[in-house]
Amino acid sequence: MAEILLIYSTTDGHTREICQRLKQVIEQHTHRVTLKSINDESGVDLRPFDKIVLGASIRYGKHSKQVYGFIERNEQILDSKPNAFFSVNVVARKPEKNKPETNPYLKKFLNQISWHPKELAVFAGKIDYQKYRFWDRLMIRLIMLMTNGPTDPHTVAEFTDW
Ligand SMILES: Cc1cc2nc3c(=O)[nH]c(=O)nc-3n(C[C@H](O)[C@H](O)[C@H](O)COP(=O)(O)O)c2cc1C
Repeated sequence: MAEILLIYSTTDGHTREICQRLKQVIEQHTHRVTLKSINDESGVDLRPFDKIVLGASIRYGKHSKQVYGFIERNEQILDSKPNAFFSVNVVARKPEKNKPETNPYLKKFLNQISWHPKELAVFAGKIDYQKYRFWDRLMIRLIMLMTNGPTDPHTVAEFTDW
């Protein structure tokens, strides 16, 4: 049995939801999973865990600053264990952009950090217009308009392939 730590960076909760699903699936294989928000991570001792997974969503083209900080502070310990990173974004709803080697955000991110995650994944995220503030809703609708996505402001579109 392995002790696995899943750390997530989320704004609207979808990356947490993906982690909860991963937890469920991993626990079926009799491993133990601890789920932590990156906001609460500073009090967590990473050393007792056998494997560490970091998942983060994209907002306006970037993963959050905390993700970079976490990696900088913990690169050595991450490297000493099996580890993985996954990115959540809506560009990944497109089949030609849904793999680590084809997703532009993940590719750019990996060029910005010195950590080389041992496993990588990309998951398509979710759009829920009514949850967003006016400006964010407008911007995402514009992005969707330019990329042939849904623009109806009442859309809830979950692109994740569960
Ligand atoms: C304000 C805002 C900006 C976003 N910017 C991008 C973006 O630049 N590229 C992209 O592919 N997805 C973008 N997304 C989509 C998010 O990555 C997607 O909604 C994801 O599911 C959010 O995950 P979270 O709830 O864990 O934060 C954006 C979403 C919001 C609300």
